[in-house]
Amino acid sequence: MSVQAPIVTVDGPSGSGKGTICKLLAQRFGWHLLDSGALYRVLGLAAEHHGVDLADEDALEVLAAHLDVQFKSSAESEGVQVVLEGEEVTAAIRTETCSQAASVVAAIGKVRAALLERQRAFAEEPGLVADGRDMGTVVFPQADVKIFLTASAEERANRRYKQLMHKDTGASLQQVLDDIKARDDRDMNRAVAPLKPAKDALVLDSTVLTIDEVLERVVQEVNSKTSS
Ligand code: DC
Repeated sequence: MSVQAPIVTVDGPSGSGKGTICKLLAQRFGWHLLDSGALYRVLGLAAEHHGVDLADEDALEVLAAHLDVQFKSSAESEGVQVVLEGEEVTAAIRTETCSQAASVVAAIGKVRAALLERQRAFAEEPGLVADGRDMGTVVFPQADVKIFLTASAEERANRRYKQLMHKDTGASLQQVLDDIKARDDRDMNRAVAPLKPAKDALVLDSTVLTIDEVLERVVQEVNSKTSS
């Protein structure tokens, strides 16, 4: 039996509902939450602030190793506040430019290696919910519960399109779908830590499931694997 804090990993493509499920899971169990995508996004933003070229892998590795980032959870604000070098960047890391930069830096092996221990340090009592692409395969291969949450590209595009409509970006549903497919292709076919289910992951397809249904299925899995 493991004497360490229990770990639940949730991997999957963007738009699968991972972020929402992880937040709810962490709240339900009172566990820590690691949003590993935010770490790659912060690195993309730090590169922009420091004028580091996204093609300069050595400089990005150094930046990753010294990244001054804090994730603060507070009772008043929903979720986690992200602070880079003392500046609040919670909203700034969600822009399209930052998504693109994150996806470029995340494809670099030495950048991923430089961020590995920082991610593992989140595994503390009473437990951890880790959200990402390689949580169950690379970062926490020993996790007690591994979930791979997916949904059809069309359904994910629909969800994203509805979110974007409030922001008046002018993007068409077809453009959103094309972007999602391009990002899936990059995440699944990159040489390092490609997006794929761990061999021992429970694969859930949220195309036809509500958030509550996914959450209940995951909670069942966590209870059955972590209660001893
Ligand atoms: O989940 P997200 O959209 O915030 O992730 C931002 C980018 O980082 C996305 O291109 C996928 C990448 N990523 C990754 O390669 N590995 C992770 N564990 C998390 C995110």
